[in-house]
Amino acid sequence: MYETIKKQDEAVYKSMIAEAKRQSEGIELIPSENYVSQAVLEANGSILTNKYSEGYPGKRYYGGQENIDAIENLAIERAKKLFGAEHANVQPYSGSPANTAIYFALLEFGDTVMGLKLDHGGHITHGLPIAYSGKAYNFVQYGVNPETGYIDMEEVRKMAQEHKPKMIVAGFTAYPRDIEWKKFKEIADEVGALTMADISHTAGLVAAGVLESPVPYFDVVMTTTHKTLRGPRGAIILCKEAHAKAIDKAVFPGLQGGPHEHAIAAKAVAFGEALKPEFKEYAAQVKKNAYHLAEEMKKKGFKLVSDGTDTHLILADLTNKNLPGKEAQVALDEVGITLNKNTVPNDPRSPFDPSGIRLGTPAITTRGMKEPEMERIADWIDRTVTDPQNHENLKVIKKEVETLCTKFPVPGIKL
Ligand SMILES: Cc1ncc(COP(=O)(O)O)c(C=O)c1O
Repeated sequence: MYETIKKQDEAVYKSMIAEAKRQSEGIELIPSENYVSQAVLEANGSILTNKYSEGYPGKRYYGGQENIDAIENLAIERAKKLFGAEHANVQPYSGSPANTAIYFALLEFGDTVMGLKLDHGGHITHGLPIAYSGKAYNFVQYGVNPETGYIDMEEVRKMAQEHKPKMIVAGFTAYPRDIEWKKFKEIADEVGALTMADISHTAGLVAAGVLESPVPYFDVVMTTTHKTLRGPRGAIILCKEAHAKAIDKAVFPGLQGGPHEHAIAAKAVAFGEALKPEFKEYAAQVKKNAYHLAEEMKKKGFKLVSDGTDTHLILADLTNKNLPGKEAQVALDEVGITLNKNTVPNDPRSPFDPSGIRLGTPAITTRGMKEPEMERIADWIDRTVTDPQNHENLKVIKKEVETLCTKFPVPGIKL
């Protein structure tokens, strides 16, 4: 791999190969990560990076756009088909600028917006006070029910009636359950609010039809393209025709300059893959694997937020295991299992040293792992967090992890 880089730039090459080894020899459980196909990698690393194409297909500010327009139109049409959307903008560089563009398109600075609290599973772009979203708009934040771990829809209704938001944002970065889209829409209609769904995490499952879609109900839907959707790093915005002009204007020239057409080509390729029947099987298996991994972890005494999962994502509170999330993450790194420390709802600890861990199944399912492998992974996690300082033991686990990984190659990595 990367022979040209090897000859030209040894320093970059060394780290790239080390990362390829890490990705293939370890178990990737970060729920926002995945392994893209060789075709997506090729499009993303292509000569399309050479081209400037400010504007939209048919209305550009530079010449030489005939091929770029064809590619961007393909990405748009496939995104619309995949999600059944009236309009798609495929230019957002990533999820955070896409959310910012949506707010810029549909709100005035200072408007009241509702979003899920960060430590209850929301994203920083959903109104964290120190983030741009929290500074530019008056976010009021709902949370999960402390007893059940599910989003408290009664609280959402009460807050909506009290604060009369201009927009309600639904979606998550660390919440293991499906979202009640219809109920959110009902509440928004009661107070005349716009609806914005951020399905960054679950887009692949929504596209495959294994989770309900907000697209029929919501005004605007944003998703990153690099998580369960298994495309390149980037994002798209889907919306009703009535908002199309405002959204397009907010993305360009409102917020961005030249679109990254290499990434847009890679999005088109990934959407083409997601439209195939195999992707439905993949998404169904992601969900099955997460359910199975959650059940196995519960058998080993792990306390899961909401007691399980409907999606690809599991959030475990390690308080009863007497190991903070940060130390668990470090010990698991030592055995080649990658996940992230995470706050749990109403966490008494800080986000940098929280009580929990967040894990998920999109990447390991891409490798072809199924229920038997989930049992082994639950066992390794348990053995690691139970005795995190026993480095001899951790070495044994690492060997077992590596042996399993050799049986499940990663697309695009040939070492
Ligand atoms: C729900 C949600 N929205 C937005 C984003 C932001 O995406 P990006 O990291 O591409 O800016 C993320 C990323 O983790 C996310 O989980």
